[in-house]
Amino acid sequence: MSGPANHDPAADAAAVPFVLPGPAVVRETVAGWAQWRHTRHSFTPAPQLSLARWRRLGPRRRMLHDLHRAATHANLPILETPMSAVVSRIMGSRIQTNALKRTPTTRAGLMINGGGYQGKTETACEVAAVFEDQWLALHDQLNPDAVAGTRDLVATVAYVPTPVTATPKSVCEAILDFYGAPHRGMTLAQLVHAVRTSLHDHATKVLILDDITRLRMHREADQDTLDLLRSLMGMHVTLVLIGVGIPTSGLLREGRPTGGTAGTGFADQTATQTQRRFDLVDLDPFGYDTPQAIAAWTAHLAGVETHLRLLAARPGMLTDGVMPEYLFRRTGGVVGLLERLIEDGCALAIDTSVEQLTGDLLDEVTINLGNIDRPAAEIPTIPTAASRAPKPPVRNTVFDDHGTPPAGAVG
Ligand SMILES: Nc1ncnc2c1ncn2[C@@H]1O[C@H](COP(=O)(O)OP(=O)(O)OP(=O)(O)O)[C@@H](O)[C@H]1O
Ligand SMILES: [Mg+2]
Repeated sequence: MSGPANHDPAADAAAVPFVLPGPAVVRETVAGWAQWRHTRHSFTPAPQLSLARWRRLGPRRRMLHDLHRAATHANLPILETPMSAVVSRIMGSRIQTNALKRTPTTRAGLMINGGGYQGKTETACEVAAVFEDQWLALHDQLNPDAVAGTRDLVATVAYVPTPVTATPKSVCEAILDFYGAPHRGMTLAQLVHAVRTSLHDHATKVLILDDITRLRMHREADQDTLDLLRSLMGMHVTLVLIGVGIPTSGLLREGRPTGGTAGTGFADQTATQTQRRFDLVDLDPFGYDTPQAIAAWTAHLAGVETHLRLLAARPGMLTDGVMPEYLFRRTGGVVGLLERLIEDGCALAIDTSVEQLTGDLLDEVTINLGNIDRPAAEIPTIPTAASRAPKPPVRNTVFDDHGTPPAGAVG
């Protein structure tokens, strides 16, 4: 490119003014969920500028553009992966079939199982939001004369994270908090009744209970937990339970002794009966052990790469040579860890003016989840940057079913 190396006002026009993301949206209330659903794809990434063009920006524009780039790296989009596509398809069709059913029979539920940071929450929320968009559009189409204002009462999807120290009561309270419904001093039976009323009054079709495995980790109330899940399933919503290591958590486990005073038989049978009403779908990390797995990982990296705004980036920055293998080793193929590594790597690349991602630069980045308020089981194992020599990928066996309840079950 020709032209002076100093400030060119015409170049300034290329740097789009952008709106800084407002306060983080909290999805766990009716209004918060709706706001997230409406704005979830609204972030405008920074434009791609060449180094020459960036140099010709005025100092203020340059600073703003760099801030916009940082915001872009902090808001990388959720990309479809082969694993999330499977979960989306199963969850999407389960929700839709259930929502269209008119019979009073119990709706089959869904359990989404996977390790920490593998995208369970984001995948499930996106599927639910897509369903809600379509459901409300269909509603408009069928009933365009719906009384104005009544829409405010409709909450097609309820998203409820399980409290860290969960009990059947606190789960009910969290559900009621989503609706802003009062629940002070209620017994479990009253809470369950209030939940039923809220779900019905808001015409809720999908109830997502995230991190449900926290419930079972405090195992003093097994029978109450089963009773709660059974009553939730009888409420004509699609119950979506998300958890880390559901098969080993003891949740809905077949034939597990309860240690209760009334003997073990009844609880075991109800557990089996409950379990059969759920599909279990796994959200796995990427693998690196077959050519197809490597190709899928590399395709994901190529997708990520298109969203980065580094001035010295070259095509293939994340996908050429040893980079796919390096990134796999750093993250174990876990999308959330990759996002973290890339995000921090980009910040470092901008700070140091390296303006591209290389193995050497990423070696300087330590993935730090800062997960202070999460049970240990939900925190994924983070590989270290230590060695760059190729190692065969090792399968994570932490969540395999070894036939015993997880150690250290009390949180
Ligand atoms: N398909 C994806 N593509 C890109 N980034 C993703 C994808 N899925 C998830 N992420 C990112 O990974 C991070 C972890 O995702 P998410 O919170 O959904 O995982 P999780 O399995 O629910 O984790 P946890 O066990 O901590 O609840 C998020 O920051 C999210 O933006
Ligand atoms: Mg989650």
